[in-house]
This record gives sequence, structure tokens and C-alpha cells, in this order.
Amino acid sequence: MLGHDEGGSGMTIDLGHHGDSEVRAGLIDLAVNVRHAPMPAWLAGPIAESLTRLSAYPDDAEATAAVARRHRRDHDEVLLTAGAAQAFVLLAQALRGARRPVVVHPQFTEPEAALRNAGHDVDRVLLREADGFRLDAALVPDDADLVFVGNPTNPTSVLHPAAEIARLARPGRVLVVDEAFADTTHRAGVAGEPESLAGRRDLPGLVVLRSLTKTWGLAGLRIGYLLGPADLLPRLAAAQPLWAVSTPALAAAIACASPDAITAEREIAARLAADRAHLLARLAHVPKLTVAGAPASAFVSVRLDGADKIRLELRERGYAVRRGDTFPGLGADWLRIAVRDTATTDAFVETLTTVIEERP
Ligand SMILES: Cc1ncc(COP(=O)(O)O)c(C=O)c1O
Repeated sequence: MLGHDEGGSGMTIDLGHHGDSEVRAGLIDLAVNVRHAPMPAWLAGPIAESLTRLSAYPDDAEATAAVARRHRRDHDEVLLTAGAAQAFVLLAQALRGARRPVVVHPQFTEPEAALRNAGHDVDRVLLREADGFRLDAALVPDDADLVFVGNPTNPTSVLHPAAEIARLARPGRVLVVDEAFADTTHRAGVAGEPESLAGRRDLPGLVVLRSLTKTWGLAGLRIGYLLGPADLLPRLAAAQPLWAVSTPALAAAIACASPDAITAEREIAARLAADRAHLLARLAHVPKLTVAGAPASAFVSVRLDGADKIRLELRERGYAVRRGDTFPGLGADWLRIAVRDTATTDAFVETLTTVIEERP
């Protein structure tokens, strides 16, 4: 475990804790934010076909071109990675010269873990519940030369305005925007992903990370990519192991970049928005519970007294939810809950309500 002593308080946060360790056979999984759905044929077919080509080393040219086309970027502005998780490591290793790395929390803990593993001293900016966990660019110190922010943010599900994130970009700074869940966002009347910066080439030092593991249920395949300035990417690529992205993962990247895949992704995001609205409507009737911010992704975070005990009680009753205490800026009174279909949500909320009402 990569622990981090919180300001000498003696309390150590496990930055290496992830929802998958909360799931075990027999539990209904509301802890991991990967979509549970059968793999579509247009994705399963190419992955299966790629298995006939495993004697050759992977060649990423076609997948890189497909991803570049999808985001209207040049080929040399795309680096494929073994999941977005590998991108954090490449950035942390290749940018060892950064003098003041800053991570905006609460957010996914791997960026900070990768930075610490690479020997960086990391400063945190903590967004506040009272502000709806919304980004205020003015909170990030001017001399921060490497900044990590998530959009939409895991675990709060908050979607920051692209314009507010853009305020963080400046010459002399690498600004990393983790858009692992951007494909889950939806806004009525907007055709594409609201607030994504993936297509922006005008912002100095902007690096956008993307994951294909969430919506497409490919967590075990390891496929993602980063989009960024052509003069920075070779440094990141140099830190990457040879042949880091396997042939089946490349086949998935090509399939997921197709126009049909993007249309399907938008439809999934619209359905998810309806399922999330259902979850929020049900949670509004749960006693003593507060939802973080304005959720916009595939999960919501909630605060309720004794959440750490409630989580254990939920496990006894068949549900795995994600603990909140390993996220800097949240704590033992927080849980993260995945958005699932309405029947799963209804049964879960009923159980949660019973657990809360039975507490002394
Ligand atoms: C916000 C966020 N970014 C990145 C990742 C890593 O995703 P991948 O599976 O692409 O490595 C995760 C995984 O949970 C995540 O929650």
C-alpha cells in the first residue's frame, strides 16, 4: 500500500485503495465504476480476431490514427497507454524535473500515488463540500508547474466547466485533465461530451487522459490514451515500456474510435443520466444523507454519519459500495455509489434506508 501520512497527524491514507478490492463473489457491485453490460459484437469481433495475430509484436499505428481522427488531433498528439493508469506513471516519471506538482482533490488517488512513487513532493488543493466540490482555478498556486485535475471527477462526480479548467493552462505548466469518465457525461441539447477539452490544441501544456475501460467494460484489457502537445509526448513515450499496449487492446481502441461507437457511447451516456436521476431521486428520501455536489458521471458520493459502519452493514446485506475515507478531502462519513439500472438502485436504496433506520 502506498500510504501518506496526513500532515503528521499519524493518520495514514491508503492512496492505493480502489473499489475493486471491495468486491467479492456474492456481493452486488456498486463499488467499481465499470459498466456491466454484454460486449457489443462490433467490439468483441475485432478483439477476438486480434487473437489470431498474437505471434507478432503490437503495431500501434492504426489505433493511434483512429484515436487521432476521433478527437481531430494529429497522430503525434496521441499516445496510447495501458489504461489511463499507465499515463499517470508516465507523466510522473518523465516530468521528474517538476518543481511544484499539485493535485486537485478529492479525486482519483493514482495521480498522487504515481507522483509520490516517482519521488515528487506533492501539494494538494482541496475543493470544499460547501462549494459543491467545484473547481476554483484561483486555488491552484501560480508557481505549480504540474497540475492534475479530474473532469468529471472521481469520486464526487462533479463536472467542472471547461472554461474554469482552461484558466489553469499557462506556458511553463503541464496541466493534466483526467477525462477517464468524460464519455459518461451528457447534457440535453448538447451533441458531444459537455466540458471536454480533448479536442483543444490552443491551451499551452494541456494533456488530456482518456480511458476506454469504463463505458466499454474493458478494465481487464488495459487501454487508454493521452492527448497532448507534440513536443511533450515523446518524453512520455520514452518512459513507457516497449510494446506497452497489447494487440487486443489496440483492436479495441480502433473499434471504440469509430463513429458508430461514439454514437453508441452518447446513447449510453443519455441512459446513464436517466438512471442517475433515478438514483438521486431515491436518495433524496433517504434520511440523514447528503449527496456531494451536482453529480454528472457514473457514480455519486454521499455523506452520512457513520458511513464507515454502514458500509460494513451493507456488505452483510449483499452490497459492496466504495469507502470514502481513502480520498483526500472526504473522510469516514463518505461513500461512493455506482449508478446502476433502476431495479438494482431501488433494491439498494431500500436496504440502505433500513440499515440507517436500524442504527441506534
Ligand atoms: C478517475 C479515474 N481515472 C483513471 C482511472 C484509470 O482507468 P484505466 O482503467 O483506464 O487505467 C480510473 C480507474 O478507476 C479512474 O477512476
